[in-house]
Amino acid sequence: MKEKIEEIRKVAKEKIEEIQNLQELQDLKVKLLGKKSELSNLLKGLGTLSQEERPKVGSLVNEARNEIEQKIQSAEAILKEKAMAQKLEKEKIDITAPSTKITRGSKHPINRVIEEIQDIFVSMGYDVVEGPELETDEFCFERLNLPQGHPARDMQDSFYITEEYLLRTQTSAVQARTMIANEEKSPIRMICTGKTYRREDDATHSHQFNQVEGLVIDYKEKNTSLADLKGTLEVFMRKMLGPNTQLRFRPSYFPFTEPSYEVDVTCFKCGGKGCPLCKKTGWIELLGSGMVHPRVLEMNGYDPEKYSGFAFGTGIDRLAMFKYGITDMRYLYTNDVRFLSQFDRKDEN
Ligand code: DAH
Repeated sequence: MKEKIEEIRKVAKEKIEEIQNLQELQDLKVKLLGKKSELSNLLKGLGTLSQEERPKVGSLVNEARNEIEQKIQSAEAILKEKAMAQKLEKEKIDITAPSTKITRGSKHPINRVIEEIQDIFVSMGYDVVEGPELETDEFCFERLNLPQGHPARDMQDSFYITEEYLLRTQTSAVQARTMIANEEKSPIRMICTGKTYRREDDATHSHQFNQVEGLVIDYKEKNTSLADLKGTLEVFMRKMLGPNTQLRFRPSYFPFTEPSYEVDVTCFKCGGKGCPLCKKTGWIELLGSGMVHPRVLEMNGYDPEKYSGFAFGTGIDRLAMFKYGITDMRYLYTNDVRFLSQFDRKDEN
């Protein structure tokens, strides 16, 4: 009997040592110590033994039981520790590893320029207003002193939708809208940026482009003059294109201003020395401007005896091209990521 118990102990020890995981250990525990185990059967059979043998065998069995239990316990502790170590290893997070790069879109150069223009004028106390792209003939032409049949309408071949409605050819339409909307006829200081449309079909013009319009109206006694217009455009252009930019005012004609001027800026590429871009003149024509025509004031509810002001307008696309040295206008509209990604957000503040 003693040998048998020894044998059980030996086999149990070996088996416990072989176990690799907690589930197997649990199964083995049932097999070695459970109700149907060899040790339990031995205990059950104690009654068949002699008075003398019974306590001896009983204590041997209990000893074996205790020993096996202990061995199982320490095996369990070791396996648990091993499982935890494995889990930790598997779930390890390297907080020093570089993170995955999040790619962000970049702001379109046109939108950048629009925002910059808005910032410049807001800093000078201007309101930023908007107007509809689908405009009426009345606001786009009539109220700007361009009546039906006026030759200046030929300058702007238009996309008419109906007889009355067209896609606006100029943001100047918003001048009239702002004056009409201002019921108190109080002074106006506004800019408007937005899309404009013309029926251009040559290679260097797009049928859709962007303009910025500016309008200042004040009481006559404030003496809003050409000097104010010049000063304003100088600040605008120098902030946009660099502090050394010079401006040149050339008399011109626009129906809604009198006198009217076209404004040239020193070529951003050669600084005014003359190069192919400025056709060796040193100047680039950029803006239209002038003092608001008294008839325009009158037609839009401002008494020209009491008010005066100035207006100006320019193409944003060309401005963006000059500012960023973009050589082909099509880059602005073809959404090539290689082009757009150059205008990364990193220099934004
Ligand atoms: N609307 C003109 C154009 O599209 C530009 C312009 C000229 C705007 C003179 C003005 C202005 O406000 O006073 O060519």
